[in-house]
Amino acid sequence: MDTSSKNQTLAELCRQYVAQGHTCANQVYVESANGAVVRDVAGREYIDFSGGIGVMNIGHSHPKIVAAIRNQAEKFTHTCFMVLPYEPLVKLAERLCAVAQVKGPKKALFVNSGAEAVENAVKIARYYTKKPGIIAFDNAYHGRTLLTMSLTSKVKPYKFGFGPFAPEIYHMPYAYCYRCSFGLKYPSCDTYCADHLKEFFINQSAAENIAALIAEPIQGEGGFITPPAEYFPKLLDICRNKGILFVADEIQSGMGRTGRMFAMEHWNVQADIVTVAKSLAAGMPLSAVVGKAEIMDSPHASGLGGTYSGNPVACSAALAVMEVYEEEDIVGKGALLGQKLRKHFDDLQKEFEIIGEVRGKGPMLALELVKDRESKEPATDKTKKLVKACFDKGLILLSCGTYGNVIRNLMPLVITDEQLNRGISIMRDGFLSLTR
Ligand SMILES: Cc1ncc(COP(=O)(O)O)c(C=O)c1O
Repeated sequence: MDTSSKNQTLAELCRQYVAQGHTCANQVYVESANGAVVRDVAGREYIDFSGGIGVMNIGHSHPKIVAAIRNQAEKFTHTCFMVLPYEPLVKLAERLCAVAQVKGPKKALFVNSGAEAVENAVKIARYYTKKPGIIAFDNAYHGRTLLTMSLTSKVKPYKFGFGPFAPEIYHMPYAYCYRCSFGLKYPSCDTYCADHLKEFFINQSAAENIAALIAEPIQGEGGFITPPAEYFPKLLDICRNKGILFVADEIQSGMGRTGRMFAMEHWNVQADIVTVAKSLAAGMPLSAVVGKAEIMDSPHASGLGGTYSGNPVACSAALAVMEVYEEEDIVGKGALLGQKLRKHFDDLQKEFEIIGEVRGKGPMLALELVKDRESKEPATDKTKKLVKACFDKGLILLSCGTYGNVIRNLMPLVITDEQLNRGISIMRDGFLSLTR
C-alpha cells in the first residue's frame, strides 16, 4: 500500500471501530518515535512538543528503557504482586520513596494510571482520617474515572452527561492570578485565595468533615496555572492546623517537568501523599502513590491493589527511567531547557499581542492567548488554528486551559537545541499566520 494512503485507511478503520469519545487530535498514525521526533506511517517527521501528554521526559524509545522492557518481558510479564511478588516493584518503591517530596519515613503503592493513583490517594486519606470530604480546585484535572472526574473541574468535555458524581467532593477557587476569581491583584491581595479556605469551612463544609485537600502544584490541563510563592505554605498551614491531609497530584508536574524532580520543591513544602505517573515509566502504564508510612499503612491488608497493579515490565521500565534520570541528569537538563524556553516565549510575547501571559516553572511553561490584553477575552479559535497550523508544518503542540486558549509545552526534556529551535520557528510562523 502507498504509505501516504495508509494514514487515510487507518483513519477510516478508526472511524468505523473505535468509540468516538476516545478522540484523536490528529488523524496521522505513528510508525516510530525517537527522542523528541515522531515519524508517521507515511514517513513524515514531527517535532514533539507534547511528549504523549508529558509522558516522554526522557525521550521516545530510550535504548535503556527498551532494553529493560525486553529483558523483563523475556523473564516473565505477570504474576500479580498480590500472589507472587517480584524484585522490580520493591526496588522501585525504595527509589521513589528516596526522592518523593514527603517528610519522614515513606511507603509506596503502585497502580496503573494517573486516575487510579488519585483514586487510591483519596481512599487512603479517607481511611487514615476517618473523614469523607475532599477539597479539589476550580480548573483542576485529576482523571476520567467516576471519582477523579468528580474531582475534575472542567465540565465539557470531561463531566458533561456523565453524572451523577461521587459525593463529598468540594471545589474551591485556585490561585489563578491572571484571572483572579475574587477580582483581586497579586501581591496586594495577600493571597486571599489561600485564606478563603477558612470561609470554605463556614460556607461549604466543616473542617472536621474534610479528609484531604488535593491540588496539582501547577494545574496541567487547567492551563499551567502557577500559584505565587506564599500560596502553598499558607494553604498547608491552615490544613495542618485542622488535621486535613495534603495530597499533591504531581502526575503532570512531577518527574523533572518543572526543572525540579517534583514541583512542590519550588514552594519548599511537603505533601502527606504524592501521586506520580506519566514520565515515571516512559510510556508503560504505571502510577504510584507515595506517602507518609503511617498514612500509607493505615488501610487493612488487601484493601489496596489490583490484578495488574505494579506490573513487573512497567516497574522494570520505571527503574531504568530512574537510572537514566541520574546518569543523564534529566532534571538538570529540564532546568536548562526551562531557561531557553522562557527566553523564546518572552521574545514571542514581545512580538505577538495575542500572547497575554507566559507562565509556569522550568520547562513546564505555557502561553495564554487572548483577543485583547486588556479585556483578556480568551482567543480559543485562534489557539485551535495555531495548533493546526503548527501540526501541518511538522510540530505537535497541545492546547489546554478552561477556555482552551492555552498552549502548553510538554516536550521531552532531552530535546536537542536544533529540534527546539526548529519547533520554536514553526511556532513563530504559526503566530505570524494568525495575524494575516
Ligand atoms: C494532574 C493529573 N492528574 C491525573 C491525571 C490522570 O492521569 P491518567 O490519564 O493517567 O489517568 C492527569 C492526566 O493528564 C493529570 O495531568
